[in-house]
Amino acid sequence: QPTKRFQFNLEWKKVTRLCKAKQLLTVNGQFPGPTIAVNEGDNVEIKVNNRIAKNTTLHWHGIRQLRTGWADGPAYVTQCPIRGGQTYTYRFTVADQRGTLLWHAHYAWQRASVYGAFIIYPRLPYPFSAPIQEEIPIIFGEWWDLDTDEVEKTMMATGEGPAISLAYTINGLPGPLFPCSNKDTFTHMVEYGKTYMLRIINAALNDELFFAIAKHSLTVVEVDAAYTKPFTTPAIMIAPGQTTTVLLTANQVPDSTGMFPMAARTYLTSVFPFDNSTTMGFLQYKNTRSTRRTKYPVHPRSLKVDNLPQMEDTPFATKFSNKIRSLASPEYPCNVPKTIDKRVISTISLNLQDCPKNKTCTGYMGKSFFASMNNQSFVRPSTSILETHYKNISSGGISSEFPEKPPHAFDYTGGNPSTQNMNTEFGQKVIVVPYGTNIEIVLQDTSFLNVENHPIHVHGHNFFIVGTGFGNFNEAKDPAKYNLVDPPERNTVAVPMGGWAAIRIKADNPGVWFIHCHLEEHTSWGLATAFVVQNGQGPSQSLLPPPPDLPSC
Ligand code: C2O
Repeated sequence: QPTKRFQFNLEWKKVTRLCKAKQLLTVNGQFPGPTIAVNEGDNVEIKVNNRIAKNTTLHWHGIRQLRTGWADGPAYVTQCPIRGGQTYTYRFTVADQRGTLLWHAHYAWQRASVYGAFIIYPRLPYPFSAPIQEEIPIIFGEWWDLDTDEVEKTMMATGEGPAISLAYTINGLPGPLFPCSNKDTFTHMVEYGKTYMLRIINAALNDELFFAIAKHSLTVVEVDAAYTKPFTTPAIMIAPGQTTTVLLTANQVPDSTGMFPMAARTYLTSVFPFDNSTTMGFLQYKNTRSTRRTKYPVHPRSLKVDNLPQMEDTPFATKFSNKIRSLASPEYPCNVPKTIDKRVISTISLNLQDCPKNKTCTGYMGKSFFASMNNQSFVRPSTSILETHYKNISSGGISSEFPEKPPHAFDYTGGNPSTQNMNTEFGQKVIVVPYGTNIEIVLQDTSFLNVENHPIHVHGHNFFIVGTGFGNFNEAKDPAKYNLVDPPERNTVAVPMGGWAAIRIKADNPGVWFIHCHLEEHTSWGLATAFVVQNGQGPSQSLLPPPPDLPSC
């Protein structure tokens, strides 16, 4: 197999949005960052030169990293940061995966601007027949006027919620609903009658998004680099860390402008007025009278994307996620574990913590926000957990401590804070399993604030979402209703707000794998743990040794 090589220089670049210039952290001066496109089976080498006076790490989100955890990237989980002036080369093989993924920085809040598409072309032809005219990347992000590392620091110091971004963006562009942004509007030409592949990526820090294109329907064919049974929908819902590939046929009769607006809007939103949360772009049909116009029509606000769900449209969100099913074909069978060796039930919780004595907490009722899984708020250690594990492998590696069941009683039948337990301890307890374990993890939302989904991301493995529901998970009844035939295969599950999701994983990748909420503020608050898979028999079931240029702490 060939090796594809990339060079990523982390550097500052002056970028202007919403009438204001700022120094933005970028890869190779690009925003969004460069696209990585490889073929299934390729070896990949990405040489990262850190040219800024800050630490960094990069993560290839959704790449399995079989036995190469050293290249996974989350700071203090699989590696120490790459310091200013240092270089580190991420080396891994893209085995048995194909589709749309993303890459992003995995240090502090750097992924606010350091992100891009990671595309894997399949070995076999696509399992859908429409000839594809062209691929169109649609990457959602946020625009901040502040330095996002500072936003995180302030948030952690005060116990308050974070400052919010000024805009959502499509491919780095806010679109015409934001001030000074007419020229910063994503527009793409299409030809009547042709079919396009949209590679949709949610790289935003903190919100689930709805997305639709006026008058057009979208056919979902793949999520998180796993094929799905194709289905047609007026809109999609996509959480941070998730990717969705859809087919779009340009089959509408355009008016004299030739333009159809597309828009993405947040799911949770009580804090955002409409125009601050909606990013808009355009499809422009070729050979219409306006072909040479480069501007959107004069009154973008009058343009309606009627098929875009309203904020907080939970019925749409639920219906949409329930439609996603694995393709489960002979070429791409669904390998969901039919039986399990172990079930871990974990609360995922946004909660309040008493204010430390020497501080004034302005978070809420004199307390500060924290988040936890099974009442542990995860604190990253000062050296990488993977290194500690590797050094101890002869004595069995890191041992298991993460509770298998919620340690404190809860009754979460509707987000009632008086029944919510807020016990929080701070630490690094992890889930440890032998190689080859079929594990089920039930993620139970017990958040004090019941306002959004939690997109839980597991590194190093894909999982199958065998069940979801609202309210309390019922261990006696719910497993009987699981889908063990064609559950969606993903790397990030949006746990329904005030509900639960059960995921099954075949733990066949030795190493240490971060599990966390992909809402960046929740990761900072500790909504995370790690999952350790011990070595199995022989070299093919063992973690490789660390590369010589691995940064040290
Ligand atoms: Cu996309 Cu741990 O992250």
